[in-house]
Amino acid sequence: MLAVLSVLAAVVALAVGTPAATAAGSLPCDVYAAAGTPCVAAHSLVRALYSSYNGSLYQVQRASDSATANIGLLAAGGYANAAAQDSFCSGTTCIITKIYDQSARHNDLTVEGAGGAGAADVGAPADALPVTVGGHQVYGLEISAGMGYRDNSTSGVATDGAAEGMYMVTSGTHVNGSCCFDYGNAETNNKDTGNGHMDAINFGTECWFSPCYGQGPWVQADLENGLFQSDSGYSKNTSNTGTGSMPFVTALLKNNGQDHFALKYGNAQSGGLTTTYSGGEPTTSGYSPMHQEGAIVLGTGGDNSNGSIGSFFEGVMTSGIPTDAADDSVQANIVSVGYGGATGSTGSLTAGSEISLRATTSCCTTDYIRHQNNAAVISAITSSSSTLDKSDATWIVRRGLADSSCYSFESRNYPGDFLRHYNFQLYRQPMFGTTQFRQDATFCAGTGKSGTGTSFASYNYPTRYLRHYNYNVYIASDGGSNTFDSATSWTDDVSWAVTAPWAP
Ligand code: AHR
Ligand code: AHR
Repeated sequence: MLAVLSVLAAVVALAVGTPAATAAGSLPCDVYAAAGTPCVAAHSLVRALYSSYNGSLYQVQRASDSATANIGLLAAGGYANAAAQDSFCSGTTCIITKIYDQSARHNDLTVEGAGGAGAADVGAPADALPVTVGGHQVYGLEISAGMGYRDNSTSGVATDGAAEGMYMVTSGTHVNGSCCFDYGNAETNNKDTGNGHMDAINFGTECWFSPCYGQGPWVQADLENGLFQSDSGYSKNTSNTGTGSMPFVTALLKNNGQDHFALKYGNAQSGGLTTTYSGGEPTTSGYSPMHQEGAIVLGTGGDNSNGSIGSFFEGVMTSGIPTDAADDSVQANIVSVGYGGATGSTGSLTAGSEISLRATTSCCTTDYIRHQNNAAVISAITSSSSTLDKSDATWIVRRGLADSSCYSFESRNYPGDFLRHYNFQLYRQPMFGTTQFRQDATFCAGTGKSGTGTSFASYNYPTRYLRHYNYNVYIASDGGSNTFDSATSWTDDVSWAVTAPWAP
């Protein structure tokens, strides 16, 4: 009995303590291969897309000496070894210089060169989008304007009217209305060569053909010279209002290359896929049949239009048009991975933990730091607050972006957005990877200046501390020229209680 109990205890400890290094079952490219539509491209920053894959996921380059390193997996078929990136990039910064194709085709993506509509791109910062998959801390790809990846010389990717499918896992929290956050088939010369020369998933709030319904972001087909929601461009479905700001979105496009394409989306954290369009190719000339050229683009339009922003975690392209059943199995696998924002340890100042930050000044002891309209404020949060308010008041503790002995605070419901000061006021903003941003988003913890709780010194203005003043949040000095530097109640205003997170 004792022996049985201790075995049981060990199993429970394993289940709770150490996340499994691999996911169970068939991974997306296993599913598509079994369905007769094999992957011809499989890109991911976060996990293997074949259960047998044990190669590199991506390459990073560090600023200090320009050396590069390949980041691989914890185990075959498993999750990214982000710790290898952390140690290689320790004390400096890294950008992502290559995203490997896990398929036998080796359609690797590198930083995109100049195109018809944009100057050469730069690589994305390697640590801008920390998320978890399967309980492991990993990094997604955070595309800002001017960033993009491409391969103009591919193998096996559909050309000239051949059938193909593709999906990507992206995020509804980092989108804009500029052209064109795409993943998929594009021109081989970085130029707009005409209708039907692209076949890529687009995700964003750009409404190319009116009317679009709701605020988006929408999953659309970039078929060149248009982001299509149907054969006539605009959505024919008034209930297709987009995915909203869901943190993890599955976006899917398939096109038989001749007379039919379909668009689907799903919540990558739960549930199935919704088809928003399944029907004929655009009726304007040039799209039926399609004229794909077979290059692969990620993060820009076909002509390197690169004003768009977006997030990318994983994506594949197939040869042939996958069955709906295969798409459903892939979505089920994505959901099973458990994309999330934090690791689950809660309430403490340790990297990966989720916390809320409560004011300790007597005026405000039920007020917490939250973001609202992109700014940081303090406001009352109680157990009966809405889920949105609770999420806005929850932060994921990260190693300091400028100094690993300090901290940065990532938004719980806006993956990749961090608390940073600008003009001494605090905002929630996407991590752009600049030295300025890293410093503005780094805070060094010490005992609360009032003798209670914790105070956070600004990394680049070390005599200024995270402070609430008139319900806004600043980095403030104890007396100074700004009204928010007022010495009155400064010690209390800069002393915070680090509490359990409001959002689970
Ligand atoms: O189709 C939309 C965009 O139009 C393409 O991505 C780009 O090549 C062109 O500017
Ligand atoms: O918040 C103070 C400074 O204001 C920040 O360092 C900089 O981003 C801005 O100029």
